[in-house]
Amino acid sequence: MRLDKYLSESTDLSRSEARKVLSSGEITINGEVVKRGTHVVQEGDDVRWDDDKLELIGLRYIMLNKPAGYECSLRNSQHLPVMDLIDVDKRDRLHTVGRLDVETTGLILITDDGKWTHRIISPRHRCDKVYLATLAEPLPDNAEELFAAGVLLDGEDKPTLPAVLERVDELSARLTIQEGKYHQVRRMFASLGNHVLALHRERIGSLALNDDLLPGESRYLTDAEVAELAQAESNELD
Ligand code: URA
Repeated sequence: MRLDKYLSESTDLSRSEARKVLSSGEITINGEVVKRGTHVVQEGDDVRWDDDKLELIGLRYIMLNKPAGYECSLRNSQHLPVMDLIDVDKRDRLHTVGRLDVETTGLILITDDGKWTHRIISPRHRCDKVYLATLAEPLPDNAEELFAAGVLLDGEDKPTLPAVLERVDELSARLTIQEGKYHQVRRMFASLGNHVLALHRERIGSLALNDDLLPGESRYLTDAEVAELAQAESNELD
């Protein structure tokens, strides 16, 4: 990697700021001052800025227990963004893997790996998303069959993909879906004349939200968890 790119990837410097720092002779590689941005950094090189070792920030994969009242989109300024809950460098590079509504709680993944995100959110990859819904009304007897067959949501021209409904008690149910249309879970229950009072995402693919992660807390995924979620690709529809 070119040195100017290495600097902007490993610090908060923009490419043009990195060039200025370089020309002032503040950067050394293996103890030697290097001023040329085009210099190619080799693996194992010791790159320092005024003695501070610079390391590339690799791709990051984070699980957050989203509290209610936080917004996944950056556009709506009425609510605090979920990214405010994540204390990491270069936060502006991160995005959420899909979205949860402001009032929805639970598992949200955050990363800077766009390909990984695509595998998880694309309906073609059949990655399960599991939600626990608290409902205003009891469900009709045939709710499982209706959701398994797919329901036509208001404003859509195709029914939802088959979904699995499991009753937990009279007013709560677990719903597993493999796509993420706008407000999908709330709209699916609305199609039965019901109303979701509270919604919590418990699981994405093989990854369950940790019980010991309090609302607002986050942790990095392990390499095995990252790889296992990416496996959704091998389940791709024809
Ligand atoms: N479906 C919804 O309706 N809301 C969410 O936040 C997630 C899925």
